[in-house]
Amino acid sequence: MVEFKGTKSSWGIIAKLFHWSLALLLFWQVATGISLHNMEFSPIKMGFIITHKFFGTLVFSLVVLRLIWKYIFNTHPKYENIPLFHKLVSNLVHFILYGLVILIPIQGTLMTWLEGGDVYLLGLIKIPPLIEENFILYPDALTIHYYSALILTAIFSLHIVAALYHRFMIKDKYGVWKRMAFSRTKV
Ligand code: HEM
Ligand code: HEM
Repeated sequence: MVEFKGTKSSWGIIAKLFHWSLALLLFWQVATGISLHNMEFSPIKMGFIITHKFFGTLVFSLVVLRLIWKYIFNTHPKYENIPLFHKLVSNLVHFILYGLVILIPIQGTLMTWLEGGDVYLLGLIKIPPLIEENFILYPDALTIHYYSALILTAIFSLHIVAALYHRFMIKDKYGVWKRMAFSRTKV
């Protein structure tokens, strides 16, 4: 039976769909972002920026919906028998990940306004600029955007290494992998 909400041993199908779709989107977003960093100004770069902005606002919208689902509607699986240290570190890493995937799109939006560009939520709704164009601040904003994305990459790499450690090294003895995986096969 499909579990929409979380149970004692699963985050539930909705949380899993949010988690894995966001993971894919973030790989795309970081890869396009880092490519942009290394590209000369060109029509191809302009096209990349349009898709980058579209997916950036999609990331933001999905994270907001995910957090609403997580804290208002969903029930959480319990951490059973897991060492306190694992629990604290993983909660801290999840908190930082959420913080970065909320802040980076907001910062990308502010940066776009500094450059005099427009931002459309999901390519549809124009967000009225809240700040004025400022070409002097723009290069610093771009640098902040770039380094925040690198920090995000470092933290989510740490998260992936921890997930793979649970899955392959300790054979998922705390059931951490299983509760976010789609497959129910035994590890
Ligand atoms: C989690 C989401 C995002 C990530 C990981 C991300 C990452 C990056 C990275 C690494 C760059 C390259 C920076 C450089 O050239 O030094 C970049 C460029 C850019 N980002 Fe984002 N970004 C995200 C969301 C957004 C959003 C929501 C917007 C605006 C709506 C945005 C607007 C831009 C623009 C306009 C550039 C190109 C700047 C240029 O080269 O002229 N980004 N992004
Ligand atoms: C291939 C990439 C990824 C793998 C293998 C993976 C694996 C996992 C696993 C196994 C869990 C369950 C941990 C637990 O219940 O304590 C989890 C939870 C979580 N993951 Fe990932 N993850 C990946 C990518 C990402 C990315 C890119 C993010 C960035 C936002 C992320 C954010 C989270 C968060 C916040 C949780 C806590 C549960 C929640 O709030 O929904 N993950 N991940």
